[in-house]
Amino acid sequence: MAEPDVQWEAASRFYGFPSYWGDHPVFHLSFIIQHSPVYRKENGKMIFEYFAKKLISLDDLKATRNLRQNFSAFLDGLISFPLNIPGTAYHACLQGRKTAIKVIKAKFNERRASNKNYGDFLDHLLEEVEKEDTFLSEDIAIDLVFVLLFATYETTSTAITLAVKFISDHPEVLAELVKEHEAIFKNRESKDSEVTWQEYKSMNFTHMVINETVRLANIVPGIFRKVVHDVEVNGYTIPAGWIVMVAPSVLHLNPDKYDDPLVFNPWRWEGKELHAGSKTFMAFGGGVRLCVGADFAKLQMAIFIHHLISNYRWTVVKGGDIIRKPGLVFPNGLHVRITKKQELC
Ligand code: HEM
Repeated sequence: MAEPDVQWEAASRFYGFPSYWGDHPVFHLSFIIQHSPVYRKENGKMIFEYFAKKLISLDDLKATRNLRQNFSAFLDGLISFPLNIPGTAYHACLQGRKTAIKVIKAKFNERRASNKNYGDFLDHLLEEVEKEDTFLSEDIAIDLVFVLLFATYETTSTAITLAVKFISDHPEVLAELVKEHEAIFKNRESKDSEVTWQEYKSMNFTHMVINETVRLANIVPGIFRKVVHDVEVNGYTIPAGWIVMVAPSVLHLNPDKYDDPLVFNPWRWEGKELHAGSKTFMAFGGGVRLCVGADFAKLQMAIFIHHLISNYRWTVVKGGDIIRKPGLVFPNGLHVRITKKQELC
C-alpha cells in the first residue's frame, strides 16, 4: 500500500472544526495514518481534548491526559461492587472523581483570580455563580463541568468507532453513504466550503446509520428514574420512592420491536422518526431528561462520517471485538489503516 500523505488542510478539515481543534487533528490524524493505531483510543482522546478546551480552556496536553485518566478510573468503577479499599475498581472510581474535581476546582479558582476572559463555558459559569440571585453554587458549577466532561468522555467516541466498524463490515452501507456524500459534494459551489446546515439536514441515510449504530451500541446501559407514585407493572407494584433502572437494550434488542434486532440494518429506519426518543428508541433516553447532548453528538457523528467518507478510505487491520462491562468496550481496540481517497483511484 502506498504511504499515505495527509496534508495539514485535509487533516484540519477532518472534523470540520478547524479553529476549535487547533493543532490536535494534525497530530491525531497523522498518528492514525502512520501507526495504524487503536482507532477507538485516538478518537476518544480527540473528543476529550476538544471538550476540555471548550469547557475550561484546558490546553496543556499533559494535564488533559491526566484528567482523562481520572475519568477512565471513574467510569471503570461506576457499576462495581462497592468495596472501598485500595486495589478495587470502586476505590479507583472514587479516587478518580476526587482528583478530577480537584483539577476542575483549581481551574475555577485560577479563573476567579484572573481578569482574563477566555470565552469558554467556565467564563459563563463564573458569571452566573457570582450573581446575587442565582441558584448556581460553586459546588454545583464544578459538578456540572465534571458531568459534562464525563458525558462526552466515552459516548460519542464509542458511537463513532462503532459506526466505523459497522460501515467497514457492511460494504452496501458504505456504498449508500458514498452516494449521499458525493451528491452533497457535487452540489457544492466550492469544494473547500464547510458543511452547511442544509447539507447536514439532507444527510438522511447518514442519520439512519447513526440511529442504527446507537440502537445496537446501547452506550448507556441504564437510565434511572425515581418512582413518584405507586405504579402497577404486569401485576407487580413498584412503590413510590423506589429508584428504577430502565435498560434500553431490552427494547433495542427485542425481536418484537425490531426485526432481526442483532443485525445492523440502517434501512429499518426508512420513513421513521430519526430525531426524537420514543417508547421503542431510548439510545439518548427520553422525556424531560433526554440527553442534552443528543443533537450535538449526532452532529459530530455526521460531520465525522462526512469527512471520512468524502476524503478517506480505510481498512480494519485488527481488533473490533466488542464486550460489555457493562459499558461497551473494544478489548483489542479497532485498528485501522487510513488512506487518502484519491490515492485509491
Ligand atoms: C452518542 C453519544 C451519547 C449518548 C448515546 C448519550 C446518551 C445519554 C442517555 C441515555 C442519557 C440519559 C437520559 C435519560 O435519563 O433519559 C444521557 C443524559 C445526558 N447526556 Fe448524553 N449521550 C451522548 C452524548 C452526550 C454529549 C456529547 C453530551 C454533552 C455535550 C451529553 C450530555 C448529557 C447530559 C448532561 C445528560 C443528563 C441530562 C439530564 O439528566 O437532564 N451526552 N445521555
